[in-house]
Amino acid sequence: MKAEPCTYVIFGATGNLSRIKLMPSLYHLDAANRLPEGTRILAIGRRPWDQQKWLAEVRQMIEAKVSDNFDETVFQRFSARLHYHQGDIKQSQCYSELADTLDLTNRFPKNIAFYLSISPSDFGTVMKLLSDTGLFDEQYGWRRVIIEKPFGYDLDSAKALQKRISRYLSEEQIYRIDHYLGKGMVQNVLVFRFANVMLEPLWNRNYIDHIQITHSEDIGIGSRADYYDNAGAMRDMLQSHLLQLLTLVAMEPPVSMEAESLRDEKVKVLKSIRPIPREAVHGHAFRAQYGKGSVGGERVNGYLQEDGIPPNSITETYAAMKLYIDNWRWRGVPFYLRTGKRMAKAQSTISICFRHPPLQFFRGTEVQCMNPNWVLLGIQPEEFIRIEMTVKEPGLEMRTRSSSLDASFRQENEKAIDAYEDLLLDVLKGDRSLFLRFDEVEYAWRIVDPILQTWAIERDYIVTYPAGSWGPEDSRRLFDKESQSWRSSLTPECN
Ligand code: BG6
Repeated sequence: MKAEPCTYVIFGATGNLSRIKLMPSLYHLDAANRLPEGTRILAIGRRPWDQQKWLAEVRQMIEAKVSDNFDETVFQRFSARLHYHQGDIKQSQCYSELADTLDLTNRFPKNIAFYLSISPSDFGTVMKLLSDTGLFDEQYGWRRVIIEKPFGYDLDSAKALQKRISRYLSEEQIYRIDHYLGKGMVQNVLVFRFANVMLEPLWNRNYIDHIQITHSEDIGIGSRADYYDNAGAMRDMLQSHLLQLLTLVAMEPPVSMEAESLRDEKVKVLKSIRPIPREAVHGHAFRAQYGKGSVGGERVNGYLQEDGIPPNSITETYAAMKLYIDNWRWRGVPFYLRTGKRMAKAQSTISICFRHPPLQFFRGTEVQCMNPNWVLLGIQPEEFIRIEMTVKEPGLEMRTRSSSLDASFRQENEKAIDAYEDLLLDVLKGDRSLFLRFDEVEYAWRIVDPILQTWAIERDYIVTYPAGSWGPEDSRRLFDKESQSWRSSLTPECN
């Protein structure tokens, strides 16, 4: 698919996401000569800034992100694409002025991508006003709308939002973003599974004991108290990013890599997840909140001491859950998912634990270590594919140990690309394979809704864990067997 020139209209352009991700990613795309000729970026913000002030702001955003690699020539080219439009996105005047700006000159390509990097509560209003002003009219070029997560607050609100926006847009025009799908290693999960034959025959209930998906962060909630205290870890990470990872690990080979085939298979996984009834929530989900502690040798506040957090908040900053996928491939294999802020380390990993061989000849006094085979897929900060095998130690003794086959694939001169670069370019190509279809969002909410509803009622107590730890010990209760435990280390562990 070929990227076509367009006008990127960014709502919430002065906000955090735009500063740290969108503008730097668009700059990188320009630096790599991937932005089609004529592409323009029109920022909408409330602040009374003129063009000069906007350029100075964008320069700062990019310098902060790329530091040593800032290239003045690229920036000059990039600046020529930038425009600032001041307005209040809740007022129709903003849209009539926007329409005039886009119409009156030939500076702006007729294809328009609207990026909604704004509070979800404003999605509906913005769509209505865009539609009322005729800005969704496709007579002279396509219209695409990129919607940031969270898509809804629960199943009902997600459905209501979908109903509202589908009054103005067809499904083909909607790009629901989950930036995890733009990460190189996440896409590599598909390549690893479906471009190699070695592991796929083993990728099922006959050989796999269980699968873990971990996303831990060492940072706290920063300045996002308002958003985070309403959302919590389950909505912020698990319902979206972690369930998406699960679909890629568990899905059947798609008919093709074309968007609908891929999304059909992901939805099948979500549909096959065994529902968790309200009375079983405790056995399947765990929540906790960070207390004071130390991260990287520095004392840090607990969640309740963070700016803007109510002193009695019971919002979870750690969430874990156990899921079963009731289909032929996975019946009986537990999937353990966990995520948390202020944990020991920032790390995203998919860990696949295989069963032990049927007879363990080498388990005996001489044997030091009898690990099962693991496949570890490192998503960030390091990207890697690692297979842990048992080998005989060199020497006269019959002693075994674990050894890793490491397929680190990034060469020194190949730098990591930010997920947003990939996704922003896909919008220009009209490639929706890495964006969510509404049924994916819907089924993901169906899975977590009973948990959220139960937690919403039980408001008197939440377990805490010290900041800088791997989370609460008690979350072990989710495991089905004594032999299973959270896999945090990236080097072989004996058990
Ligand atoms: C966002 C969440 O979607 O993903 C954040 O809102 C989280 O709370 C972030 O920190 C993690 O993304 P990444 O790309 O930094 O792993």
